[in-house]
Amino acid sequence: MITANAHIAAMAPYALADMSVPSGKRLISLAQNESSLPASPCAIAAGRDALQKSQLYPDTNWTGLRTAISNVHELHADDILCGGGSMELFACLLQCYAGPGDRVLSTQYGYAFFRSATLAVGADYTAAPEQDFTVCVDALLAGADASTRIVCVANPGNPTGTRIARSELVRLRAGLDDDILLVIDEAYGEFADGPGEHTFDLAARGNTVILRTFSKAYGLAGLRVGWGVFPSSIARELRKLLISNNVSIASQAAAEAAMRDQGYMHTVCAETSARRDRFADRMRDLGLQVPQSHANFVLLKFASADAAARADRSLRAEGIVLRGMGGYGLPDCLRATIGSEADMERVIRLMSDWSKTGKQTC
Ligand SMILES: Cc1ncc(COP(=O)(O)O)c(C=O)c1O
Repeated sequence: MITANAHIAAMAPYALADMSVPSGKRLISLAQNESSLPASPCAIAAGRDALQKSQLYPDTNWTGLRTAISNVHELHADDILCGGGSMELFACLLQCYAGPGDRVLSTQYGYAFFRSATLAVGADYTAAPEQDFTVCVDALLAGADASTRIVCVANPGNPTGTRIARSELVRLRAGLDDDILLVIDEAYGEFADGPGEHTFDLAARGNTVILRTFSKAYGLAGLRVGWGVFPSSIARELRKLLISNNVSIASQAAAEAAMRDQGYMHTVCAETSARRDRFADRMRDLGLQVPQSHANFVLLKFASADAAARADRSLRAEGIVLRGMGGYGLPDCLRATIGSEADMERVIRLMSDWSKTGKQTC
């Protein structure tokens, strides 16, 4: 019999959302942090036009896309790499810089893929405690040791939605040994970008990578396009591992047009953030603890794991699926992606009824 490598056989599969709803109910997914709004019409038109060239392999250098990113973010195109989602870039970084005997350090509620990608290369994964659902730089610095090869931080974090300031990331970088790679995953960065908060310049230190994606604020999750800013020595190694035709012609064209349409993206972020904050306030009114989110979702903390499970069942009975957080060691929490205004109003109504009629303690 063929057997997988021992470290792969020992791994649990990456935990996907349970999307089951009663038959006949329309599924309303608030479980995957997708955008509630479609991509820019310019992106959709560009992707559609590019299908005319589907007989050709895509540009292995992502030329138009990299030019658009570098123009918008004032970066050198050579410092940018693109991937089949930022997950491909992250997985390749792990393959490149970690292996058996090495440690990858993240945080208590670090994005679950950090762990899977670490185990997939046979390295050990450890997590430094967070404080109030927020990354704690002191704990990360205390947790790094001689076997640590990579430290990864999602900022804003998933599933917490919280963020730390650029100055804290600078302090983290300064406190880590130079031979530790720091990966800053900014999948939700567009929701949190503010003056003076950009971190792209940290790549110039030679040991720091910043990852972004078109899956969230740009509404292109289905096209699988991520990008990042890489020191040249890291980019050189990573290109050996990336699949050479990793981003399809249609995906490159759509992402390029989406990047050029910054106005649309900013409107999506503003609308989503306003709806998120209104929703979070209503959930707090019901007695739930909701950390301030800087992303397109919120974490809802109930009084107990049982209350969270009952709320999940009540919403699911109406076709609404939130993400259970047991895998993050938070069985008393659910994560709600911010959906359309109508869907969020529906969740608020159902949760209010649920907490009143059942005399439930949220
Ligand atoms: C923190 C974080 N990083 C990366 C990703 C995945 O990004 P992509 O779709 O670009 O692979 C997600 C998706 O949920 C995420 O939450």
